[in-house]
Amino acid sequence: MGNNKLTLRGKKLNLLIPEEEIKKKVSLLGELINDYFPKNEPLIVVGLLKGSFVFVSDLVRAINRPTLVDFMVASSYRGTQSSGNVQIKKDLDFDIKGKNVLLVDDILDTGRTFKKVLELLTLREPKILKTCVLLDKPSRRVVPIEADFVGFKIPDLFVVGYGLDWDELGRNLPSIYFLSEEG
Ligand code: IMP
Ligand code: MG
Repeated sequence: MGNNKLTLRGKKLNLLIPEEEIKKKVSLLGELINDYFPKNEPLIVVGLLKGSFVFVSDLVRAINRPTLVDFMVASSYRGTQSSGNVQIKKDLDFDIKGKNVLLVDDILDTGRTFKKVLELLTLREPKILKTCVLLDKPSRRVVPIEADFVGFKIPDLFVVGYGLDWDELGRNLPSIYFLSEEG
């Protein structure tokens, strides 16, 4: 069970999704992904760093075919109106042309970063390009984009744990929590 008395920088962490539920969901997502992609063809799983690193590490172990793992780092300029101004700080090591690709992120929020990266990868002409996010905050979307495989739809809460951070802290928590002001 997730510890329900945790704090981070003096803010209370309220349990939203316990570790066990995440595990079940990751297995389910793995099954859906295994069913969707052609058997016996390699799959390239592309994680967006840093937030997706924990999810990717569990998800790839639920995938039962030859799998390659790669990561990208994309930075979006938050707090400005220059929406869509996304910079690629680390690109892929692999050429994805003609390959089966699954783009993975921790959470789909405004959708700006995910959409830009998806457009970039599409230009490289993969055979199949699908998307998977563990969490989805649909009410926060500012650009029209949905993921093909979604773990949990959640309300507009700021969440930490399982790779997600609050100013770099909290990524190592095994469960997912939302922050509240009470100490
Ligand atoms: P966006 O969809 O381009 O707005 O950016 C999504 C990214 O913002 C995610 O990959 C996370 O790194 C970060 N993010 C969005 N919502 C949260 C949250 O509730 N907690 C922690 N990080 C978040
Ligand atoms: Mg992130």
